[in-house]
Amino acid sequence: MSYETIVLEERGAVALITLNRPEALNALNRQLMDELTDAVRSIEANDAIGCTVITGSDRAFAAGADIKEMQSKSYADVMMEDFITANWEEVTRTRKPMIAAVAGYALGGGCELAMMCDFILAGENARFGQPEIQLGVIPGAGGTQRLTRFVGKSKAMEMCMTGRMMDAAEAERSGLVSRVVPTEDLLEEALSVATKIAELSRPALFLLKESVNKSYEVPLDEGVMFERRVFHSLFAFDDQTEGMEAFVEKRTPNFTNK
Ligand code: CAA
Repeated sequence: MSYETIVLEERGAVALITLNRPEALNALNRQLMDELTDAVRSIEANDAIGCTVITGSDRAFAAGADIKEMQSKSYADVMMEDFITANWEEVTRTRKPMIAAVAGYALGGGCELAMMCDFILAGENARFGQPEIQLGVIPGAGGTQRLTRFVGKSKAMEMCMTGRMMDAAEAERSGLVSRVVPTEDLLEEALSVATKIAELSRPALFLLKESVNKSYEVPLDEGVMFERRVFHSLFAFDDQTEGMEAFVEKRTPNFTNK
């Protein structure tokens, strides 16, 4: 598939996806979400890639679902085309680590897409919000659920009820983003973190991701037991032997993903 609304590049073992509808502040329309789904699947199948960065422009990561495309849809339309479910959630299914590098607006579906990634690095100019209530609807790509888990009920409720935007400093304070960096350094920093992650043991990373995500799904004792079993299972991999041997021998490990 060739892409018009995103750009997919390989930077060594890192895939870089750039949302590319500048005229609409990267509003997430059907074409873009279909292309993003295809790109994420192709990255998943590409053994040369170990980590993905998804980003937008300095002005906007994404200003939400495309309102102009949604405006004329009926209930029958959105229900029958399985709107959102059909092509928004591939990011949550990929086993490879995925970092959102967010500068500018991440609003509505843009904020929701960033929250589907494994973590968010923010530029100082990032603005996060769930303004759907101002359009007479509510977040539809997980905003009420994921934002609440990130920042707690009070702030999530306030943001969703008012549509207020959160700046990068508040987003970091509230646990929505892992770190804030100068906007001009954002992409370089995200690629550098992704490059380091891509060098690590892939099976360990896959299972690490499953284990952290499990903490949202199950009670603590079950989550800890899941983690323990996963930890045990990693001793079946050559990468455990290599990682520990390399530490003892004071050298860089050479993981083979086996
Ligand atoms: N959908 C479609 N087009 C959009 C868009 C969106 N979500 N956001 C911005 N655009 C378009 C604008 O219509 C404008 O296009 P024209 O030049 O053709 O008029 C262009 O992008 C530039 O935008 P503005 O002129 O509005 O730029 P601004 O700097 O004045 O304002 C903004 C920036 C505050 C982000 C403003 O564009 C805005 O409020 N956008 C909408 C944000 C929003 O409501 N997002 C939620 C969408 S609903 C959703 O996402 C549902 C869900 O949960 C899945």
